[in-house]
Amino acid sequence: MVGVIACAGKSSRLFPSTMVLSKQLLPLYDKPLIYYPISMLLNAGIKDIAIITNKDNFELYQKQLKNIIDLNINIKFYLDENPMGTIASFKVAKDFTKGQKVCYVLGDNFFYGKQFEEELKNAVQLKSGAVCFGYPVKDPRAFGVASFNKQKIVTKLVEKPKHPESNIAVTGIYVYDEKCTEYAKKVEMSSRGEYEVTDLNNMYLKDGELKLVVLKKSNYWLDAGTSETLLIASNFVYKKIKKTKQQIACLEEIAYKNKLINKEQLKEHYERLKKTSYGKYLEKYL
Ligand code: G1P
Repeated sequence: MVGVIACAGKSSRLFPSTMVLSKQLLPLYDKPLIYYPISMLLNAGIKDIAIITNKDNFELYQKQLKNIIDLNINIKFYLDENPMGTIASFKVAKDFTKGQKVCYVLGDNFFYGKQFEEELKNAVQLKSGAVCFGYPVKDPRAFGVASFNKQKIVTKLVEKPKHPESNIAVTGIYVYDEKCTEYAKKVEMSSRGEYEVTDLNNMYLKDGELKLVVLKKSNYWLDAGTSETLLIASNFVYKKIKKTKQQIACLEEIAYKNKLINKEQLKEHYERLKKTSYGKYLEKYL
């Protein structure tokens, strides 16, 4: 399975902070936001990853992630010249995803939790079909939302409904079988002028091939794409690290634990980073 991370959007919900810099390059507490989706993919055992960016940020991503590629993670960068929605970006990497199962992540989504990690590990084992992850929220109108019948079976997914039929938001991580690259080509422009990931998910649903895993509230999910939610997620990570003394999304640590790098290589990364608490944390492995 390969991973694809969507980072091509204009990040306009974070203006003026993102006038020249993509939001996934901004820090979520002590590391760039892009580290979090990369860590989710690595933790699920995926180390072939495509990152889709826009033209203003294409080179910046390569600079920012140079040391991460040195962790023996296969990262390819793709350019979306004219970002037009969540599935338009996906289509840009069609050479990368063709014939592959894909874990697709919207780069501003932040997840934390045992159940989530386990469910994602299960999902990436899928033989066919697709898996989405739902999360209960107070106001789901800004998201894709699941509708259910009396038997609690998903009947449809609706993008940003004015009158949501449930409080279950569909989060921005999706696991697909090999059909996704072909299906994505068939997605038509929505009434709001975008190519929506929800329409791809509804194709699988129509075929009876979509599973929705509803995460418990004890997990943590947010779309960190606004100043407020980015700050909330930053505080969450700060407090968790303080409390547990464990890093979150420390890519050098994950690479070392997964044997992508050896101790000597870890030491090189440590030397570069040791002035920060993020870097000092690696000392325990040396
Ligand atoms: C996108 C998806 C939406 C999903 C959300 C999760 O919305 O279109 O279905 O619920 O991400 O963050 P966007 O954030 O692009 O408005």
